[in-house]
Amino acid sequence: MSPRADIVVRPAEPGDADGMGRIHVAAWRWAYAGVMPSSFLDGLDPVISADRWRSVLAGDTTPPDGLRVRVAVAELDGRVAAMTSFGDGRDRAPDDPTGELWMLNAHPDAFGTGAATALIDEAVRRLAVDHERAFLWVVEDNPRARRFYEREGWRPDGTRKRQAIGEAEIDEIRLTRDLRG
Ligand SMILES: CC(C)(COP(=O)(O)OP(=O)(O)OC[C@H]1O[C@@H](n2cnc3c(N)ncnc32)[C@H](O)[C@@H]1OP(=O)(O)O)[C@@H](O)C(=O)NCCC(=O)NCCS
Repeated sequence: MSPRADIVVRPAEPGDADGMGRIHVAAWRWAYAGVMPSSFLDGLDPVISADRWRSVLAGDTTPPDGLRVRVAVAELDGRVAAMTSFGDGRDRAPDDPTGELWMLNAHPDAFGTGAATALIDEAVRRLAVDHERAFLWVVEDNPRARRFYEREGWRPDGTRKRQAIGEAEIDEIRLTRDLRG
């Protein structure tokens, strides 16, 4: 599918929260079916997710340790179709300027449209103002996302972590890329 020409990328606003909750739940159910427990995925609630995003976007919830983070969305046909957040790296030592792509999710209806590509381009461009390099975490068993990030120049740096979600152990790998090269 060739990228759509009518994608609008802009900073997220509190009024985007409902759409972002919808995207979060749909994207996770799509990506992690068979990876995370179905009880966990079934329990995801777009209304609760939307409330969290509303609080973040209103400035009522701020990241810990003074980390700076921005949130952006991509619209298709006047509707929020994908979202990203990015900023200072959560893993870094205090004097390490590495940035992080914290989150990137597209609604499955928007897969392959170029909305996610437009957003990651924006995130990389904005991250590059403050950071020379950035990292992100991706679930190891998420082939579509891994292919997408590989195409966008992100490479494994050999760091991994495992987290428990219900009875499942989820392996994640860290990818990095130069932002200014
Ligand atoms: C990851 C994500 C943002 C990418 O956006 P997208 O619009 O789906 O990405 P694209 O269609 O541009 O690219 C996906 C690539 O993976 C390929 N792909 C699709 N299914 C695949 C699979 N099962 N295995 C391997 N590659 C696959 C596509 O062919 C494409 O590669 P190509 O450009 O070389 O053809 C989106 O899929 C998403 O939100 N997924 C759910 C949530 C998620 O996983 N977020 C990332 C968390 S770190």
